[in-house]
Amino acid sequence: MKFKTIKKTKLQKSLTNLPDYGKTYGNFSWTQIEKELAKESGNILNAAYIAIDKHRNTDKKNKIALYYESDNGSKEQYTFTQISELSNQFANLLIKTGVQRGERVFLFLPRIPELFVAFLGILKTGAIAGTLFSAFQEKALLDRLENSEAKILVTDSILYPRVQKILRSLPHLKKIIIVERNAKALPKGEKIIYFAKEMVKMDKEFKIRYMQKNDPAFMLYTSGTTGKPKGVIHKHFAILQQYITAKWVLDLKENDVYWCTADPGWVTGIAYEILGTWANGASTVVFDGRFDPSRWYKIIQDYKVTVWYTAPTAIRMLMAAPDVVKKFDLSPLRHLASVGEPLNPEAVIWSLKAFGLPFHDTWWQTETGAMCIVNIASMDIKPGSMGRPFPGVIADIVDDKGRILPVKKEGNIALRPGFPSLMKSIWRRPQKYRSYFINGWYISGDRGWKDKDGYFWFLSRADDVIKTGGERVGPFEVESVLVEHPGVIEAGVIGKPDALRGEIIKAFVVLKQGVKPSEKLKNELSLYVKKHLAGHAYPREVEFIDKLPKTRSGKIMRRVLKAKELGLPVGDTSTLEEY
Ligand code: WTA
Repeated sequence: MKFKTIKKTKLQKSLTNLPDYGKTYGNFSWTQIEKELAKESGNILNAAYIAIDKHRNTDKKNKIALYYESDNGSKEQYTFTQISELSNQFANLLIKTGVQRGERVFLFLPRIPELFVAFLGILKTGAIAGTLFSAFQEKALLDRLENSEAKILVTDSILYPRVQKILRSLPHLKKIIIVERNAKALPKGEKIIYFAKEMVKMDKEFKIRYMQKNDPAFMLYTSGTTGKPKGVIHKHFAILQQYITAKWVLDLKENDVYWCTADPGWVTGIAYEILGTWANGASTVVFDGRFDPSRWYKIIQDYKVTVWYTAPTAIRMLMAAPDVVKKFDLSPLRHLASVGEPLNPEAVIWSLKAFGLPFHDTWWQTETGAMCIVNIASMDIKPGSMGRPFPGVIADIVDDKGRILPVKKEGNIALRPGFPSLMKSIWRRPQKYRSYFINGWYISGDRGWKDKDGYFWFLSRADDVIKTGGERVGPFEVESVLVEHPGVIEAGVIGKPDALRGEIIKAFVVLKQGVKPSEKLKNELSLYVKKHLAGHAYPREVEFIDKLPKTRSGKIMRRVLKAKELGLPVGDTSTLEEY
């Protein structure tokens, strides 16, 4: 089915003061934006200063930066000055514990105000902040804390038991800071100190560390096809792109109340719930609760949310509850954007009906640090397309040798390095980092095509990385946990297309001789992954098979499993072991 272009001239009059995309592209200059931001920030380069502290010198100093609501409905709010002071106190606490520039401080917390305060405090000291999604279990935590050699971990009493299981394998971890919020009983231990108890002793002023553009600010572990997750390092200067994309694509203005539904355990939560959006002075809503259509709409209604950034799976879940939307007053909403997985055209058409506004798709990755291919607020939308490269970002479709392909030809979605937010490195894996680049292009690992108007269309991943409910999962991590189950010899894991979640995780499992396949065992294996790896990364489907397709050198050929699952031709099997 073909979907009609949504013409912006007929929509959203409030957006017309944005730069016209076609016209600005030619003379866009990062240097110009850098000057603008440097002026606003008194030439101080530290992403935490640019996001928060600079507002203390303006009329935003008493503006609400953070509206927090917990799952049980309790509410808190913090002004820019309060966030600035609290993060200063946390920075002082880190210095007191001996944290130095470049050392890693990790956060394993639910979406509570302390997470935001601590993240900014870490940046202020010049240390590197790492975030860990709160659904992680001990195996996911171990890989990340071990590889990063994190010195300090901030967590709470509910999540701490998962850390406790692996403490002995973490010799570099010197201190664990426990946030007391929601604690029935506080854990005790040699390395443990308590957040609130220490914070009150700390000075509210802190001499922020000045950083160089290339200095690392934060790191995020992300999954590829093979091997353990890798630490993507981002620099302080990435805030330039986070700031300007938040301004032009999320269209943030003076009086906006902005809600990003992502978690700071992932890159969207860092770039567009902390750095880029606060750098624009937006009041941000943080809801630390479960997905539920009525509750979500109530958040929009109660806080009078004007700009909303969310993910396609959530949009599809809202579409599945069509009557709920009518019960709420969502009239303040004026701009919607989406990220993380393909935004199907039906979702855009639905949002036009449900909210009178289309979702604006944005494409980017953990590695790119900020939006790269987008629907700028003022652009015509072609439903189903991810949009066009952001001004200052050069994107194209290239073949495997890095040669540009013509319009409509399928190939690799590639970016020209040189935009400010591209990752600085992969933690301690220089060769892995280099492998991203071919013939002067950064190869994203996504496949797609471009049309004659320069709009990009997503097709698939080039590798076996899974996107389930918008969250990125490496099949290797799931397989590694499955084979630790006493009944399993080996496992192959794929993403299986799913109308609601984009993909679900499906595991093909070879059982040990004598172990009886059963429905009960399937559930047990799913639960096993949920309990030991992560609450979001477990296989929703398990199938027992006699043998996995492998190359002669023993590598599992997931694409063969996938083709079989989908009833598609298996393709070139010349490297396949007899199967
Ligand atoms: C996918 C999330 C289609 C893609 C910010 C990419 C998308 C991966 C889109 C990165 C989109 C992200 N349309 N696919 N608009 N946005 N993706 O690292 O496969 O969690 O490579 O970063 O998500 O996921 P990550």
